[in-house]
Amino acid sequence: MDFESLKQECLACRKCGLCETRQNVVFGMGVSNAEVMFIGEGPGQNEDEQGLPFVGRSGKLLDQYLEAVDLFRDKNIFIANIVKCRPPKNRDPLPEEWAACMPWLQEQFELIRPKIVVCLGRIAAQRLIRSDLSVTKEHGQFFEKDGVLYMATLHPAALLRNPNNKPLAFADFIALREKIQEICDHTY
Ligand code: URA
Repeated sequence: MDFESLKQECLACRKCGLCETRQNVVFGMGVSNAEVMFIGEGPGQNEDEQGLPFVGRSGKLLDQYLEAVDLFRDKNIFIANIVKCRPPKNRDPLPEEWAACMPWLQEQFELIRPKIVVCLGRIAAQRLIRSDLSVTKEHGQFFEKDGVLYMATLHPAALLRNPNNKPLAFADFIALREKIQEICDHTY
């Protein structure tokens, strides 16, 4: 399957109850040959309205961190979420919702074949790295799984709530930059 066909199938998904309340499926955005992917938890209100990931206040903050280390949505990364439809009132996705949605992300991984996956916050980190991972204690560390490096960092929405942690997240992005220079090609 090619990337555009995958996107069209995903946009029509009705595999869980979130399809009843969503306005838009948020498939993800970026370049399909990205070596670095960022995975959040799920769309919020702005994302649901626009059909794009991280376009609200936390997205603006994320973009600042990205640009500081030469990463850009339209150039060299892909951003997606664990669930592609907004959970009502921004609650955590239910196990049956992320289980139903995970095959879409798996297909995205298989087509994009990233070298590095950055998990934004606990939900993504615990689904993709380890179910008992502590983002507070283990952010910024790289974990290898099946030839791909995974790192967790603090969710930008958590940084808006607790700006004292911004330097910690910035240090993670610097570590990411160093890893990219070590293992990714010259487009970075
Ligand atoms: N928070 C997320 O986890 N994902 C988004 O796309 C927006 C906010």
